[in-house]
Amino acid sequence: MEKNRGHFGTRLGFILAAAGSAIGLGNIWKFPYLAGENGGAVFLILYLGFVFTIGLSIMLAELAIGRTTQRNPVGAFKTLKRGPWTAVGAMGVFAGFFILSFYSVVGGWTFAYAFKSATGLLATQDIKILGNAFGGFISNPIEPLIYHALFMVITITIVLRGVDIGIERTCRILMPLLFILILVLCIRSLTLPGADVGITFFLEPDFSKISGTMITSALGHAFFSLSLGMGAMITYGSYLSNKVNLPHAALWVTSLDSIIAVMAGFMILPAVFAFGYDPAAGPGLTFITLPAVFSQIPGGMFFGTLFFILLAVAALTSAISLIEVVVAYLIDEKKLSRTRAAIVSGSTIFLLGVPSSLSLGIWSDFTIAGKNIFDIMDYLASNIMLPAGGIFIALFAGWVAFPKIMNDSEGGIQDFRWASIWQIICRYIAPAAIAVILISGL
Ligand code: PHE
Repeated sequence: MEKNRGHFGTRLGFILAAAGSAIGLGNIWKFPYLAGENGGAVFLILYLGFVFTIGLSIMLAELAIGRTTQRNPVGAFKTLKRGPWTAVGAMGVFAGFFILSFYSVVGGWTFAYAFKSATGLLATQDIKILGNAFGGFISNPIEPLIYHALFMVITITIVLRGVDIGIERTCRILMPLLFILILVLCIRSLTLPGADVGITFFLEPDFSKISGTMITSALGHAFFSLSLGMGAMITYGSYLSNKVNLPHAALWVTSLDSIIAVMAGFMILPAVFAFGYDPAAGPGLTFITLPAVFSQIPGGMFFGTLFFILLAVAALTSAISLIEVVVAYLIDEKKLSRTRAAIVSGSTIFLLGVPSSLSLGIWSDFTIAGKNIFDIMDYLASNIMLPAGGIFIALFAGWVAFPKIMNDSEGGIQDFRWASIWQIICRYIAPAAIAVILISGL
């Protein structure tokens, strides 16, 4: 193991950090509203289908590429095979910039909502009032930007110090707490009068509603939610020792991530229907319905505040992995110090996020194909960049690097019962399926 590159101390520490990367706004904020927009149960089935086939295979491929090479995505491809493959790593580094810029805007919203809950500003179950409050907040030209800046400053501060015991320990305490709180909220949401309509919506598929856009979004979301297709898992894999069983670790991270997504669905969707709200309301869904649920439980103000703080933590642990891809690249390849790398990339990402935030208010008139800048960034990242990255990573693992990432005595997977099936998925099934869906989606 190379000196000066941090690495995870324990197997549990790694799984929690990787799960911390995967579990984030994607699961709790994005998944419920995507399911709401895309027919509920049908979306859930498609999403889980992609997660446990293509997703799991590419998760393993990324971790193995990372651990074998002990490098950032660009360096990893370069180490395994010189030449044009390096561009796949470069694309990943670019995607890190790109995704974190709007991710951090939403991360900022979670901070704002923690403050708003704590000061009692959200203590109502009137969905109209909550909707207006949310709309007013995100369209404000200044307030969300302050929180976006705060979010980036905290992200930079953590990454500056290295992803060391501090963040590992934080995850270890806070992630279980988040899990318990989501469970409590699920129960409250599921027992609201009128929740059954939402439960049916989420669990009983109506396959007649299936559409191409639904399939593309489900695939894109599988990548986004598992942090795949841009090298985040290559980077985390590169901090991993060769004692960890990679297929097991991949299965753990994948399972934890989808469990949280399903729970978030149960937390939000029944409440949406119980309060007579529109499930296709989009990005505001979580921020509007959850405060209404909190107003229905004793100590709602306290739990509401705690929830948004934990959501902010979940967002931060994902943001760290996004910026870490860029930072690891700048350190390994450009020989920048960690401090420099974190500050330079973090401030650029902040600036890149400003248009996304403003596009929800004063710049909302600027649209392409009916989408504002925020939606365009999200669409390009989730539905194009990550799946495209996934195709190349799968092809690379299946055709180019397979013997090395399987057998390498330092970091290879070594012993894996399903190796030949995995190779077939990487070589043919995953690239072909993703390509067909991508192309039909365009
Ligand atoms: N998986 C994270 C989430 O669900 C987002 C993310 C995407 C993180 C890509 C890293 C890489 O919120």
